[in-house]
Amino acid sequence: MSSSHKITQLVDRFGRTVDYLRISVTDRCDFRCVYCMSEEMTFLPRAQILTLEEIDTIAQAFAELGVKKIRITGGEPLIRRGVLDLLQNIGQIDTLNELVLTTNGSKLEEMAESLKQAGVKRINISLDTLNAEKFKRITRTGDLDKVLKGIQAATKTGFEKIKINAVILKNRNHMEVTQLVQFAVDNGCDISFIEEMPLGVVDSHDRAEVYYSSDLIKSDLQKEFELKSILDKTGGPSVYFKVIGTDSRVGFISPHSANFCSTCNRVRLTVEGKLLLCLGNEHSVDLKRVIRANPGDREKLKQAIIDAMQIKPEKHEFDLKEQPIILRYMSATGG
Ligand code: GTP
Ligand code: 5AD
Ligand code: SF4
Repeated sequence: MSSSHKITQLVDRFGRTVDYLRISVTDRCDFRCVYCMSEEMTFLPRAQILTLEEIDTIAQAFAELGVKKIRITGGEPLIRRGVLDLLQNIGQIDTLNELVLTTNGSKLEEMAESLKQAGVKRINISLDTLNAEKFKRITRTGDLDKVLKGIQAATKTGFEKIKINAVILKNRNHMEVTQLVQFAVDNGCDISFIEEMPLGVVDSHDRAEVYYSSDLIKSDLQKEFELKSILDKTGGPSVYFKVIGTDSRVGFISPHSANFCSTCNRVRLTVEGKLLLCLGNEHSVDLKRVIRANPGDREKLKQAIIDAMQIKPEKHEFDLKEQPIILRYMSATGG
């Protein structure tokens, strides 16, 4: 795209500018994390998912509409065949500031170097525990050793930043927060602690019972580390603290205890081609239908995206004590 091309900003009814697109390139995953999926999952058949070319077209349209940051997610994005080509194409969009990725780390050992070459700037890697048995219990199928090797490979590759994501559940891994921060510090990474969100019906635990707030985590950490509140932003919902005496930051993602929707800057594309306007609501627009009904018509696609901003909800309403109102699993959007 030429730099003289007029950029239209995406703005919603509440005056929020959307400049961050999260793209889920597959709903499948090699793990089955207890807070993200049920043990038995039905995945989308091939005919129902966007091709990599279609995903690329949609990414280009968003960039022309002022999106500056694209995050590739899954399921597990690195198990989609051809994902590196897609990343390479998106990495070449010259108006984009950041191409970033969220992964479970299982394929990083083999892929870290190629991801860097494709133009990925930062990687967020899920890691909830450093105990191999517990890791298996939480992920159901994951292998901690493989993920640790993946993290090691990624730190050697020289990304701008690596962030560990840990979903904290009471009596599962809450007692490990200090060790997880120490692990991040030792590896020169940031770390975000996440309050579990009630998406999809999970059978492994009662979400209200395992709730462990960011404030509790923070006071646990303050027994070991000095945390200093900082204003750093990475474009996501994390509120950051510097771990004094180290290069690491600790972030808190607190959908329950500190709602961040008023500053929401993002929308999500599912691999089914739905543009989801909020993680905690079902409002969506079927972009697959738009592109398949109007092949090659970039303006129609862009207009559909602009119009979609009118239905972006103000906020999510999560209630851990009730059955989830969103039946879609987290794996459909990769967070
Ligand atoms: P950074 O670019 O590093 O700030 O990444 P990020 O935190 O935006 O992305 P990541 O994929 O690492 O997601 C971390 C957690 O934040 C996941 O649990 C996401 O579900 C959650 N998250 C990201 N955006 C939103 C949002 O708009 N609403 C809610 N409720 N959660 C979100
Ligand atoms: N609530 C909060 N975070 C979740 N993730 C997956 N499922 C949930 C949930 N129900 C996290 C993963 C990953 C990130 C993208 O989303 O751990 O790090
Ligand atoms: Fe896979 Fe990530 Fe969901 Fe775990 S949280 S099942 S690694 S998509």
